[in-house]
Amino acid sequence: MDHRQIHDFSVNPIGLGCMGLSAFYGPPTEQAEAIKLLHAAIELGVNHFDTAEMYGLGANEKLLGDAFADRRDKVRIATKFGPKFIFDDAGKPTGTTVDGTPENMRRAVENSLAYLKTDVIDLYYLHRVDPNVPIEETVGAMGELVREGKVRALGLSEASAGTIRRAHATHPIAAVQSEYSIFSRDIEDGVLPALDEIGATLVAYSPLGRGLLTGAMSRDNKPGGDGEYRQAAMQPRFADGAYEANLALVEEVGSVADHHRATPGQVALAWVLGRGDNIVAIPGTTRLKNLKTNLGSADVDLTDDQIARLDALADRVQGARYNEAGMSAVNR
Ligand code: ATR
Repeated sequence: MDHRQIHDFSVNPIGLGCMGLSAFYGPPTEQAEAIKLLHAAIELGVNHFDTAEMYGLGANEKLLGDAFADRRDKVRIATKFGPKFIFDDAGKPTGTTVDGTPENMRRAVENSLAYLKTDVIDLYYLHRVDPNVPIEETVGAMGELVREGKVRALGLSEASAGTIRRAHATHPIAAVQSEYSIFSRDIEDGVLPALDEIGATLVAYSPLGRGLLTGAMSRDNKPGGDGEYRQAAMQPRFADGAYEANLALVEEVGSVADHHRATPGQVALAWVLGRGDNIVAIPGTTRLKNLKTNLGSADVDLTDDQIARLDALADRVQGARYNEAGMSAVNR
């Protein structure tokens, strides 16, 4: 597939969301296996890798640092700061807060540079907007990192159209990362037009609906177990009842996929990338086979009728994309 632009980087429209290698989707992938996957991804033409301070408390950034230290010129690395875990007295995380202060940014960026074993981060995001710090203050400080050569381009994640415009007036915003998929369409009315207006790229995260849209999940094969946050308390779409209803919608994606001898996940990715030339996707995977399948979405050319069928599914999805605490961190 033709490359697309983020800032002045030319990237494969399919990047790699690295979070699941270290956090939130069950136990972390073993280091040697994870590094093998990251190296194979480069060989397959992937050159945009997405991580965050939040993912495994630095473990995910350290993994990328180890994997890419000897091939830094072949990859664009995006990382993020802002959210922090809150710990109880026993050191167990009990929730999260967001800190968009320049002081927290300084602390975070120095850690990220060290963990990533690099002297420059290609794309540095504010991971969630801090309601207590004016966006001009946070982005003003982030702009200093660009001037100092520590960061090449700036991004925001889950920011509203109004916040994006205010941020861009402070310092050019190259990318906004938000959830976007056949099942999650919140950004279409405000954020996507704002990105067109300022000439920024959408980096679509969870383009596979956190795995739901791949067709690999079923009643009997539901995510669960240690370290897995796709469960009712955190992710209402995986609650009993909602999960089954959402799986029925995936069957409809599957019937479109059958026409292309493709998988539902490939159709889901083709749908996202078909929404605009300024959109790239970062499906997450821990498996080479799945990465290859995802890259195969480039061969899926959806017809207008098929797109209309897929467009109609969003209104029937059951459950919010995060629980209340998670949704309250989304800037609206
Ligand atoms: P996120 O952005 O949160 O990582 P996503 O990209 O929508 O979410 O989906 C990621 C999930 O889809 C992961 O659980 C991943 O599981 P694996 O690590 O086992 O691959 C799953 N996934 C990704 N590509 C897949 C594919 N081609 N087939 C089946 N599952 C896939």
